[in-house]
Amino acid sequence: MAIASLLLLLLLLLLASYVAFVFVVSPTLVLRRLRRNGFTGPPPRFPLGNILDMAKKENIKRDPSEDPLEVSHDIHSMVFPHFAQWRKLYGKVFIYWLGTEPFLYIADPEYLKAISSVVVTKNWGKPTVFRRDRQPMFGDGLVMVEGDRWVGNRHTITPLFSMTNLNAMISSMVEITTTMLAEWTARASATGTHETDVEPYIVRNAADIIAMASFGVDDSAGKAAFDKFKALQVALFSPNRLAGVPFGEYVQARRTAECRRLGEEIDRLLLSVIESRRRKSNGGEGEGEDRIDLLGLLMRSGKGLTARELVDECKTFFFAGHETTALAITWTMFLLALHPEWQRQLREEVAEATGGGDIDSVAMTWVMDEVLRLYPSAPNLLRQAREDIRVGDKTIIPHGTNIWIDAVGMHHDRSLWGDDVDEFRPERFKDSPYGGCTHRMGYVPFGYGGRVCVGKNLSVLEYKVVVSLILKRFSLSLSPSYEHSPVVMLTMRPSRGMPLILETL
Ligand code: HEM
Repeated sequence: MAIASLLLLLLLLLLASYVAFVFVVSPTLVLRRLRRNGFTGPPPRFPLGNILDMAKKENIKRDPSEDPLEVSHDIHSMVFPHFAQWRKLYGKVFIYWLGTEPFLYIADPEYLKAISSVVVTKNWGKPTVFRRDRQPMFGDGLVMVEGDRWVGNRHTITPLFSMTNLNAMISSMVEITTTMLAEWTARASATGTHETDVEPYIVRNAADIIAMASFGVDDSAGKAAFDKFKALQVALFSPNRLAGVPFGEYVQARRTAECRRLGEEIDRLLLSVIESRRRKSNGGEGEGEDRIDLLGLLMRSGKGLTARELVDECKTFFFAGHETTALAITWTMFLLALHPEWQRQLREEVAEATGGGDIDSVAMTWVMDEVLRLYPSAPNLLRQAREDIRVGDKTIIPHGTNIWIDAVGMHHDRSLWGDDVDEFRPERFKDSPYGGCTHRMGYVPFGYGGRVCVGKNLSVLEYKVVVSLILKRFSLSLSPSYEHSPVVMLTMRPSRGMPLILETL
């Protein structure tokens, strides 16, 4: 009996030491090392780190005397209030903590260049804490894989996005978007004018396009995939999550189970699409060879990808591809509504085009670049150090440190862009692909280096098709009910919708 109690006591002691080590001792040692290396930052309280500080809501209230249509594009402190505040105290490079995970915040392009030049792309990781958390969404698709596996997959996937393949998707993009516009036209029929929250339409339209482009699914399967993806996004990015806190997934067991269930349902849906293709191919029906979609191209690439790998890549295309492009279009409609002079200029340029890939609108490219500068759909980039990284003479970023790169912060940095930083001025891209930014790495809407967005050409093409079709049919102005409150939920979206007044032309 006495031995049993002693053993139990020993076990409890061991457990308590383990918990103390994981929750406090280990992160405190890492914190000390980081401080010795010269990194400062907001003081963490383990095991939550700075999560509580970040959860505090800044109560930004609109002054009722303000004209609702006078919106400011100076949004950094709206979307990342804690980072905006910490930047004033600790500069453009500092450490903050999600639970017991250290994150190196970077909003200094020169520092970004310095760390990128000492480590080759394939040796960077993606934060383990997010790879685990977002497994149901991306699996081991291209966004999340690392090392040699990333190199191999990137080589397989890059050629899928050739202009020949993408041009073959234009007619479907036009068809899908025309259906959405017909609905808008029908709503406007009595007066020629109507107010619509365009954001959900544009997101749905982009989801239909990406479902067609990724796995060529028909309408009902596309809808089922979309609904599940949406539910998964809400579950994954709820504001009270405990990412980085040891055993956080068990503390929030319900949320974890819900995400896993939705992820498995999406997998099953995509698996059934893949199996049906394989059956058709084995049965001599030609696996839909005539259809150009990313799944079909991957299956025919000769790389022998397993069904699991195909599912993960398709999920990644869907998630990385639809909302990013949709939000670029949504913010464009907003900015064009505020700037009728640009609306007119683009409309004139697209008037000649037939609505397909022949849209040769240079100004539209500048507008897209400027929209993604002010309202980047991907507001931050992530990395993880897989080795100790020496920067300059003495600073070492320890192995395992996560890196959080603030694209919004850099895109709105007056010292990089000048005094007109918060103005919508697409012409800044006329003579420079970096919009006159004084540092090339200060403008990163599609990422940088070897991991730059693989789907960029697809998104630019879709953007041009959809925006030109909209401009040909409608004139846009902002509804007085619009409330400017961009928010980050993986992507940057208008949290209170995008009500616009659409007038048929
Ligand atoms: C306006 C639209 C888009 C924006 C703003 C955007 C932005 C980005 C950014 C910033 C990255 C780099 C992330 C990082 O460095 O960690 C990225 C990577 C990626 N994007 Fe996009 N993206 C867009 C559209 C698309 C589309 C349409 C697809 C596919 C159908 C796509 C698929 C991917 C994939 C697979 C990666 C990972 C590449 C790699 O790690 O090698 N994206 N995107």
